[in-house]
Amino acid sequence: MKRKENIREDIRKFYDSWTPETFPSYIKTLMDLEEKLVVDIIENLEEYRDIKRKNGIVLDCGCGFGSYYPLTKDLNTLYLDLSYNQLKRFGKIYGLRSNRICGDILNLPFKDSTFDLILCINVLEHVIDINIALKELHRVLKDEGVLLVVAVNRESIIREEIFNEFRIYHRGLSLRDFKVDGFEMVKYTTFYFLPPIFKILPVFILNYFIDKIYLKLEYRLRDLFRGRGQFLCVVLRKS
Ligand SMILES: C[S@@+](CC[C@H](N)C(=O)[O-])C[C@H]1O[C@@H](n2cnc3c(N)ncnc32)[C@H](O)[C@@H]1O
Repeated sequence: MKRKENIREDIRKFYDSWTPETFPSYIKTLMDLEEKLVVDIIENLEEYRDIKRKNGIVLDCGCGFGSYYPLTKDLNTLYLDLSYNQLKRFGKIYGLRSNRICGDILNLPFKDSTFDLILCINVLEHVIDINIALKELHRVLKDEGVLLVVAVNRESIIREEIFNEFRIYHRGLSLRDFKVDGFEMVKYTTFYFLPPIFKILPVFILNYFIDKIYLKLEYRLRDLFRGRGQFLCVVLRKS
């Protein structure tokens, strides 16, 4: 059994050399689909809109190279990631000089009660001590602050890894993982139901299918396969 520090070091190294721009275009298409769905969910959340209106302080925890930067760029936001190279790429892509911090979700370099909103998207599946991570996120949130998590759903009907063949520690999470003291679960949804078989389509057909057919079905599939989408989005409020 590997020691926790070694596992974290493997994850850091993996993301230091993670270059999704070199992935085959069908994977990029599927990643774009997830991104589109996440942005749509967050933009329509009243908790996010409320914090935006109040110009609250935001942390994008495990920001990677900034896929979700458009959601937070006009807010007072700090960006944290374990991987220095991802942060460097992030800065290069968007021409940023500051606001990026290299750090670990298990030991956040912030004072208690700093943030109104924390986004933690596609990160917690790599964290062994999810309870410690949730405690840290709870500590740095203000009272009534909101934590929004997106993670691979353990209860998904799609069992296949869709984007990556992860050679590092990762596992799906379920709602139960978020029923922890100090947080009230405000809402949750699961999303993304595209079966892996669609990967065989030529990319231009896949794109066409997603735009013209799949995106129109997504909401119905959320009702039909309640709780069984590939990804879980949970909104927690510090109580
Ligand atoms: C799949 S990427 C997601 C990046 C971004 N949130 C997105 O959705 O595009 C996972 C990110 O989590 C970061 N990460 C993994 N373990 C972490 C930890 N213990 N503390 C902080 N960041 C971590 C990785 O370095 C990587 O950038």
